Amino acid sequence: MSLVMNSETSGLDLVGKLLDPASRADPYPLYAGFRALGPVWIDEISALVVTGYHDCETLLRDPRLSAERRRHFDAAREADPYPPDAPSSVRQPWFLSMDPPDHTRLRRLVSRAFTARTIARLEPYAARLVDDLLDQACERDTFDVVSGLAYSLPVTVICHLLGVPAADERLFHGWSAQLTRQLDGFSGPGDDGKQWAGGMVELHRYVNELVADRRRSPRRDDLISELLAAEDGGDVLGHDELVSTIVLLLVAGHETTVNLIANGVLALLRHPGHLAALRADPGRAPAVVEEILRYDPPVQLTARVAREDLHVGNAKAPAGGLLILLLAAAHRDPEANRDPDRFDPGREQVRHLGFSAGAHFCLGAPLARLEGRVALAAFARRVREPRLVADPPPYREHINLRGVSELLVGHGARGR
Ligand code: HEM
Repeated sequence: MSLVMNSETSGLDLVGKLLDPASRADPYPLYAGFRALGPVWIDEISALVVTGYHDCETLLRDPRLSAERRRHFDAAREADPYPPDAPSSVRQPWFLSMDPPDHTRLRRLVSRAFTARTIARLEPYAARLVDDLLDQACERDTFDVVSGLAYSLPVTVICHLLGVPAADERLFHGWSAQLTRQLDGFSGPGDDGKQWAGGMVELHRYVNELVADRRRSPRRDDLISELLAAEDGGDVLGHDELVSTIVLLLVAGHETTVNLIANGVLALLRHPGHLAALRADPGRAPAVVEEILRYDPPVQLTARVAREDLHVGNAKAPAGGLLILLLAAAHRDPEANRDPDRFDPGREQVRHLGFSAGAHFCLGAPLARLEGRVALAAFARRVREPRLVADPPPYREHINLRGVSELLVGHGARGR
């Protein structure tokens, strides 16, 4: 990377470099540059960029910050991109970007159905799926970890959990890929808002029908039926709230988990000693997952809006100003993690905000952890003599959701 950091390097220079696609392969030197500046208000993007671990963690729990940030990112998009006959659920905001008391109410209701027990029951299913995917992938001497393993697992598991008929899963694969952009306020030019809105409307129509069907004939064993039955002190989810939540679960849980798996395989292939250790002891998989979430996290940053004038260190954000919390930079703050630029699943303590912190802590974290550890342990066990075909591999354009678009791996003999 050709960034020369000196006392003249400004926050704006760093933002410019970060937006440059050439930085995707390794944005970490840029994050170090931001950390050297400390919290900094950048006028040109009207945002305060925060990189210290302690600052990020404290701010995520600070009630003076609002998660309602859509208007900042939607300004460039059409105010209402949906056609008049779109289902009303499409305009129902996600609780990801709500504040209390609305956020508290919806999250509590959804948590009634989306429990750790529900998730734990999925493990044998996820393990079988991973084995089948690797059976197919390993038929070829070289395979793509993204399309052959990482991409299918989360969407198939969430469809299974929701009770989407197997024949319709293909539809979900397509929608999910198209809609992730909603999570990434920083996507570059070339966004096709119309196509995106069209996909969103189709998905909402589909989920509306699925919910109507479950209402007519409830089942015992799927998340949609459980969400329909979820109750908290007499309160229940409204129809649009329910549909919007299902769409959120699909979108928030897909590309993030794809990237956890692919970033994980990449880090292991670059550190063969840790790959061998995982092969020898699959019990290390949870520690590998936590280290990936720290070292090369799928969600690199999140944003909040100041409800009032705020000071962070020597920087100030005015009321209504945006705060960009660079989680991936915070993870490499030496005050939080020793020797932070080293990939080390054996570290004694790993501190990360890969699932955020505070009220919006990732609701799907148990599911993401389960899928991550099952996939990485199986990769280590099944794929013999793996080698990277291209290093660095090509990256997706997203800044927020960090991941490769393709990860070609060559391998030797097959094992089971
Ligand atoms: C490795 C995979 C994943 C990562 C890195 C991840 C990361 C995150 C982060 C950082 C947030 C909070 C954003 C903020 O504070 O602004 C979040 C929220 C959320 N995630 Fe995940 N996530 C992952 C997988 C999943 C899965 C599998 C699901 C569900 C199927 C899921 C559902 C959600 C939901 C519903 C929220 C909103 C929580 C709230 O606002 O209260 N996530 N996730």
